[in-house]
Amino acid sequence: MITYAGFDELIARVYAHRQDHVFEYWGELIDAERRELLNDLTGIDFEGLQSLFSQTRRSDAVAGEFGPAPFIPIPKTDDENAQRAQAREAGIAHIRSRKVAAFLVAGGQGTRLGYDGPKGKFPVSPVAGKTLFQIHAEKVLASSRAYGVDIPWLIMTSIANHEETETFLEEHDYFGIRETLVHVFPQNLIPSLDANGKLVLESKNRIFKNPDGHGGSLTALKTSGALDFLAEHGIETLSYFQVDNPLVRVIDPDFIGYHVLNTADVSSKAVTKAGPEEKVGVFVRLPNGAYGVVEYSDMTHEQQHLQDCSGALVYAMGNIAIHLFSVEYIRRLTAGGAIELPYHVARKKIKSLRAGAPAEIDGFKFEKFVFDAIPLAERSIVFETSRDEEFAPVKNRTGVDSVDTAREMMSALFRSWLAARGISVPPGVRAIEISPLLALGPDDLPADLAVPDRPDVYLS
Ligand code: UTP
Repeated sequence: MITYAGFDELIARVYAHRQDHVFEYWGELIDAERRELLNDLTGIDFEGLQSLFSQTRRSDAVAGEFGPAPFIPIPKTDDENAQRAQAREAGIAHIRSRKVAAFLVAGGQGTRLGYDGPKGKFPVSPVAGKTLFQIHAEKVLASSRAYGVDIPWLIMTSIANHEETETFLEEHDYFGIRETLVHVFPQNLIPSLDANGKLVLESKNRIFKNPDGHGGSLTALKTSGALDFLAEHGIETLSYFQVDNPLVRVIDPDFIGYHVLNTADVSSKAVTKAGPEEKVGVFVRLPNGAYGVVEYSDMTHEQQHLQDCSGALVYAMGNIAIHLFSVEYIRRLTAGGAIELPYHVARKKIKSLRAGAPAEIDGFKFEKFVFDAIPLAERSIVFETSRDEEFAPVKNRTGVDSVDTAREMMSALFRSWLAARGISVPPGVRAIEISPLLALGPDDLPADLAVPDRPDVYLS
């Protein structure tokens, strides 16, 4: 057994868990490299990893004992409209009393987009070519101006993109948001395992780890000290959204209003599934009455296609990863008690070092999903929104859920805002973009706005 002053207990644990292959290159390492390796091993929960590995050989199928979750529909009747107005009032009051912060998760690797850098730096807007970060930042700023308050903005990154994200935001002066209101913190990492449940060396002295999923955001709020930042600002509600959706309403008074009036721990937005086979998770109600999300892959063909007597899909409410969290609930969830989000396992190729040479091996990566916080909540609501108005995920360059589709959807939405205000669009106009700083919705548009007759129009 190797030894190193101050680390002998850790080293003994590594041997006890039969992970001592990580010391394969020990003899070749200089002192600083040995320390790096030992630091990488510090804090690894060996027992926890072992139990995760034993789950990789078990099927993950959901028990199937669930029904569709009730939801707050897009208002159609007078009654629903009156309720909506009441909710909006409550939401606006909550925002104005400085209790809401925006929370962007941007720790993903954006593999499918194939862009070498934080996804938030990717230009997506249809005319001005604004990056995802700029679009989100301007919505936070515009909401602050609309409600006359400083809305804090939290951004979760991962080790791989943290510095580049911070530098980008600094270089752009946080797009006009006061620096002290922006809090950027990296998420935590978890080691991947090879097909035999062994830790993987990515180099002679580093253990391969991956970001612990968007569900890791809730733990990271605590471990990074972000909960203290929220306490200092008196924040009670976090408006959670993901970096790749340029249509998201980052601060939505209607949604916030329902959340507050229902004293919900977690609230979630949903859109009607595009069809039975759309690959999104759906909101369900579990036998104990709690709500949850069942992944597309965990539903049977029959469940996916099940229709009610009117021919509508029974499991129709698709999860679009927009949530509100009560800060108090996040505190409870991360207090270190029995309730904790589970890890999901994915078989992935892992870059490693084998017999001194780089190799791609088969292995297991573990991730937490943020929607697993829903069944643990005491009170939860599902709120229907319109896909056209709020969901344009940028996952790929082209094709489905791509930069192309997001640009088209943005332009179409802005066109619909102008139509709603009776503002005519000249025939020569092909693409339209409206800056969040001009309008967050049709009601903010000046009635006398004139749209110039040219192919690409940017209104700011
Ligand atoms: P996705 O699951 O789409 O992953 O993330 P991704 O990394 O962006 O893209 P692919 O799958 O590699 O192509 C959805 C949202 O969750 C965030 C992402 O940044 C994105 O906003 N996320 C994902 C994290 O913050 N951390 C993670 O560990 C994973």
